Amino acid sequence: MNLVYKHIPVMVTESISGLITSDNGVYVDGTFGRGGHASAILGKLSSKGKLIAIDKDPSASKEATKLRDKRLFFVSGCFSQLKKILSRHGISSVDGIFVDLGVSSPQLEDSSRGFSFNLDGPLDMRMDNSSGETVADWLEKAEEKAIAKVLRSYGQERFAKRVAKAIVFNRAKEPIKTTFDLVSIIKKSVLVPTKNKHPATKVFQALRIHINKELDSLRSFLPQCVQSLKPGGRLVVISFHSLEDRIVKQFFKAESEPPYVPKEIPIKGKDLPEPRIKIIGKALFPKEMEISNNPRSRSAVLRIGERLAA
Ligand SMILES: C[S@@+](CC[C@H](N)C(=O)[O-])C[C@H]1O[C@@H](n2cnc3c(N)ncnc32)[C@H](O)[C@@H]1O
Repeated sequence: MNLVYKHIPVMVTESISGLITSDNGVYVDGTFGRGGHASAILGKLSSKGKLIAIDKDPSASKEATKLRDKRLFFVSGCFSQLKKILSRHGISSVDGIFVDLGVSSPQLEDSSRGFSFNLDGPLDMRMDNSSGETVADWLEKAEEKAIAKVLRSYGQERFAKRVAKAIVFNRAKEPIKTTFDLVSIIKKSVLVPTKNKHPATKVFQALRIHINKELDSLRSFLPQCVQSLKPGGRLVVISFHSLEDRIVKQFFKAESEPPYVPKEIPIKGKDLPEPRIKIIGKALFPKEMEISNNPRSRSAVLRIGERLAA
């Protein structure tokens, strides 16, 4: 059976108006997903415009084909390869870059992908499920300390040590193969779940971030955006949790201010590197109406930066 999972794109109006500065321009959507934002970008471009769309998930390429748009060039891969991808397309600079981080609703709602603690399925969680280690593979071998570190750093899980201990104890009896195997271990270890949240929320977030190297990809992607944008070009990022948003916010801050130099170091202001980014407005959040139509949007934060002339 071919199930159809819908994805409602988040903060479309705000992202498109922040991103597009020229309708003949070349743009990048680093997280194509089901093409919701990509369609909106294409809708604003003239016949001369171009959109390079990237996604790690092999199933995204089928969605891109369905759009049947000659201005769209889909690349299966990680946005951390941005410069290589652009150079393969003979592009040295672009007018705007957009990313809508994290997982899509179709990925979450497909039990066979193992992203959801509400659906039983293989404990996978890879965005690119054509290669690499699954969460089940990792949990089979990882040291207790390493598991606890991931749960604490990427999930801010208060009971990280207890959950890690329980994972190691349980896997010695039977391999942890499914999402529900893991959920039942977590339920016994997370003593005080966060109000209105499933007790496995933080552990699942942490394991997903770890297995997909989400924060490393973002850290490597942002400087490449600055190098690839034309002066006046925009970088628009939608994040869904504080770990991602902190990286984006700190990056924008560092790129928009002269570096801090202690007084005793004799460097004159004119010898310091010029800021490369201007922050456009404050962080934007979805409006009440959007949150009630699409509850997944509730944690979204949108930030916009503009490339300054070199
Ligand atoms: C929130 S969804 C994007 C939804 C999309 N904006 C839409 O309207 O359909 C995030 C997508 O980004 C992809 N993704 C996440 N991290 C990625 C990375 N580092 N490189 C490429 N794709 C990534 C995921 O596979 C997922 O399809």
